[in-house]
Amino acid sequence: MPPFYGRFIRPLLFRVDAETIHEQTLRLLQRASPVVGRFQLPVAGRGRLAQNCLGQTFRDPIGLAAGFDKEARAVPFWSFLGFGFVEIGTVTAHPQPGNIGPRIERRPTDFALVNRMGFNNTGAAKVALTLADWQRRGLLGRVPVGVNIGKSRSADLDCAPADYAASTEMLAPFASFLTVNVSSPNTPGLRELQEADRLAGVLEAVQDALSTHQAWSGVAKPLLVKIAPDLTEAEVDAVVDLAIDRGLSGIIVSNTTNNWGDLSPHSGARVRSGGVSGLPLQERSTSLIGHVARRAEGRLLIVGVGGIFSADDVWTKMAAGASLVQLYTGFVYGGPNVVRAIAAGLLARMDREGVGNVSEIVGSAVHPAG
Ligand SMILES: Cc1cc2nc3c(=O)[nH]c(=O)nc-3n(C[C@H](O)[C@H](O)[C@H](O)COP(=O)(O)O)c2cc1C
Repeated sequence: MPPFYGRFIRPLLFRVDAETIHEQTLRLLQRASPVVGRFQLPVAGRGRLAQNCLGQTFRDPIGLAAGFDKEARAVPFWSFLGFGFVEIGTVTAHPQPGNIGPRIERRPTDFALVNRMGFNNTGAAKVALTLADWQRRGLLGRVPVGVNIGKSRSADLDCAPADYAASTEMLAPFASFLTVNVSSPNTPGLRELQEADRLAGVLEAVQDALSTHQAWSGVAKPLLVKIAPDLTEAEVDAVVDLAIDRGLSGIIVSNTTNNWGDLSPHSGARVRSGGVSGLPLQERSTSLIGHVARRAEGRLLIVGVGGIFSADDVWTKMAAGASLVQLYTGFVYGGPNVVRAIAAGLLARMDREGVGNVSEIVGSAVHPAG
């Protein structure tokens, strides 16, 4: 853990309600973004961390996970901090307030967060305008920016395909890749969309919208799906097979878990349902990545997310089969220097283990060399 942030700043921030600090931080970063976004904090050994994935260059494999900057308010700031890519969202076709608070809480003993946000966001049209504004200022696309889309609460499950397609139409022009999120535990019924027939309908509608976009722009946008860690093995296999059949580019493993079993008792807990992220999710997410990698046999790019705090955590996820990784909770606990610290740690371990480029780590635990 970076000593200064962990010792002095984090205890101060953690005294204030989590959502209040989140909003204040985003407001500050949003204001700083137009200036700061033109610069870049130095990240050691960058060339060796770079890879080509999804038809584009990722200067390092460490991304900001969906949910932190839902409305693309501080996109340029994330590349300044060293993130190799960003996923904004979840964005829904219609603006919506999300669940009533309190809806996010820290669990410091467990290095975890619990949340039941419920896709609070200003809606696809407004987010598209924000992205267009960053683009106009030359501040979009310094690193790949993925857009994560979800179902509006007002759309029932049968209308989900049209709802996802509407978001796709508005946001695809600005997205380096698009993620279909069917795995948040905080929108009633959403996870049912992971069931193969329903998911097929959503993917078909999104792919139709992407084809239309490609017809006029000439640009094909990669499509990924994000899954929950609480699916059974058979359910995971069905999603992986469907993703391959439909020609998706990748899969994000995983969203937060519904399993609160590993959390320590917390006096004064105010959020008692929703998704758990951070350390309690770490092993489950890694084993799921391994399972998906074995099932997909290289036909899907895997983005590994869940409980990453250190370079060794990144290594473990990549060795299990992830080409790229993301963090949310690790950023809250590790602070603004966490990406650069992880990058330095990755390089040091690559040196020790004789690894030239970070891509050589991918799948090394699934298919051991020799
Ligand atoms: C407060 C909070 C809000 C989140 N919102 C979203 C979201 O809108 N869409 C999404 O796909 N994932 C969302 N996530 C899940 C993260 O993207 C990530 O999959 C999960 O937190 C596991 O990673 P971590 O252990 O590094 O936090 C959210 C997570 C947290 C903690």
